[in-house]
Amino acid sequence: CMIDGLEALLSGLGVDVPVPVFAQSDILRRPIDIYRSYLADTTSKVLGCDSGLAYEAIQSANIKDNSDLTLILPKLKWGIGKPKDLAKEAFIKFLSTPLFQLPIPDGVHLRFIFSTLTLPQLILAYINDRSVQFGRGDLLDGECTSKKVIVEFSSPNLATEFNSAHLRSTIIGAQVANLYENAGWDVVRMNYLGDWGKEIGLLGVGWGKFGSERAFEEDPMGHLHDIYEKINELFSPEKEASRKARDDGHDTAEIEKQGIFAERDRFSKRMEDGEPEEIRFWKRVRDATITYYMHEYERLNIKFDEFSGESQASPESIAEVESVLKEKGIYEESDGSWIIDYSKHGPKSLGVSVLRGRTGSTSYLLRDIAAVLDRNRKYAFDKMMYVVSADQDVHFQKVFQALRYMGQEDLVAKLEHVSFGKAQGLSQQLGEVHLLGDILDKSIKDAHDVLESDQTEHLEVDKTEESARILGYTALATQFCGLSKRTSSFAFNSKTLVSFDGETGPNLQLCYARLCAKIKESDSDDTVLANVDYTYLQDDPWTEVIRIMAQYPDVTDAAYKSHEPSMILTYLFRLSEEVSNCLEDDDDEGDENEVGETSIGSEEPPEAILAQTVLYKLARQVFNNGMAILGITPMVLS
Ligand code: ARG
Repeated sequence: CMIDGLEALLSGLGVDVPVPVFAQSDILRRPIDIYRSYLADTTSKVLGCDSGLAYEAIQSANIKDNSDLTLILPKLKWGIGKPKDLAKEAFIKFLSTPLFQLPIPDGVHLRFIFSTLTLPQLILAYINDRSVQFGRGDLLDGECTSKKVIVEFSSPNLATEFNSAHLRSTIIGAQVANLYENAGWDVVRMNYLGDWGKEIGLLGVGWGKFGSERAFEEDPMGHLHDIYEKINELFSPEKEASRKARDDGHDTAEIEKQGIFAERDRFSKRMEDGEPEEIRFWKRVRDATITYYMHEYERLNIKFDEFSGESQASPESIAEVESVLKEKGIYEESDGSWIIDYSKHGPKSLGVSVLRGRTGSTSYLLRDIAAVLDRNRKYAFDKMMYVVSADQDVHFQKVFQALRYMGQEDLVAKLEHVSFGKAQGLSQQLGEVHLLGDILDKSIKDAHDVLESDQTEHLEVDKTEESARILGYTALATQFCGLSKRTSSFAFNSKTLVSFDGETGPNLQLCYARLCAKIKESDSDDTVLANVDYTYLQDDPWTEVIRIMAQYPDVTDAAYKSHEPSMILTYLFRLSEEVSNCLEDDDDEGDENEVGETSIGSEEPPEAILAQTVLYKLARQVFNNGMAILGITPMVLS
């Protein structure tokens, strides 16, 4: 099986097999773990310390210091000298091996660099063998049977605009779902539409005043959005008056008994009561919205398994939540509403929340709590994630706390709010964009313009609409994923959206396209591993690319564990930087030829080209695997 192949390969390189075994290491999934295992084993032998401790003391390379693995000596509880002399003391005990060069003492660390004599052969064979599986973790955490996760994301509202928080949720959510799938989970992608409640009631009132069948036929979403804007404008003085009364400590009931307030509440109440006419309206709006979004999500390469929504919370679960909370003495009546006073039952900071309003309507919070019970019944999930903006941090704390009050600790342990920071400046910069389609259209149009411009003259891609769509989407996906932790906010920049400068999505596509062009140019039938003479890959810049390629599974693991797709993006930029260095080296030689200088000497032998082509193909494989997690497809090559 696989392990035999790997050990045959290693012993061919002069390495003693079997590979030392460690609980934490997974040598069939992460090639760097092979190095970690041998290093830990050697360390324990030459320094006479515990090998498990040694494994724990090995840290992955940090990009800045030019090494692959670092041994943190103080963690070994070894040596008697002054801490600063530790490394020098330890250094002399290590010899170079087929896998490692001599270490470099550095303070209390020993830094290790992989031997470039064996690195290309080991890593390229490894990646070639795993191919699309490279970086995947079907047996992650050592479990063979897959577990079920629900990833809830995007979740726009029926009436209101698709804002930047929805867009970020859509992009990060899809990527988190891909990370889980990549790790071997059975993933349910769920969209929880804001399809119930007072805002829909308001839209219903607006329809009565401004609705037009014809306009709806032509552009359902645009028309609904118009109606919502109009009715909201009429409504805002009333809302303002009510807010002011509340701030001044007056009762708002009088104000809310009249005007649009009353009409809205009447409509919502009739919806709650299941009146056929209101339900028919609601269903039409909901269906039109889902049809619209399904089309737009398709342009983003995203497919949902379920369009759920606030309206879908079952009456049974709602009743269960209310009765259990009542039983536990948590649910109380206050001025005709039903509330939870979190400050009484702890934690204090959560304040007071209404679960059922004066008119009997269920709140956003109550429906979210009930939805957890519904989904648990339907899917028996092992984990559920809400990819929702940090604006709703408190909301989710309330959902989880209410479930704890109900005695559902075990269920709460499976829930996680995957929160993220704001994308600032979307509406300022893109102007009148309210719908997902508008945002996409805009970025695709920019991409189209760039493809027409001389900036992309040399780009060997088809300048088709499909390329524009891919480029536009790549631009959005990379900006909204970002390069820092998801909790940090970022400034959306429409100017650099499809720019080829710096770490942008289009630049990634550019590098990928150049890589593919290079492969095509030098391709021949014998680009198979068996024919490769690895001596051509034992120096910079080739070894640099290979070292980065070897890290890919470590990166996917870290990204998966922390729910940070940005780690994959950051990694791909690193990879593309190193790949570009190789491509540029090649091009320089080409340029010399053009100037007509004697270039016979620098002409590369076919064996070198063959080895490089194999390297490029495997680098492309790593790109493909990483881009797939980010939901980015490559542009079509010309
Ligand atoms: N529709 C909500 C909004 O637009 C987001 C829903 C988030 N998910 C949830 N389960 N509450 O703000």
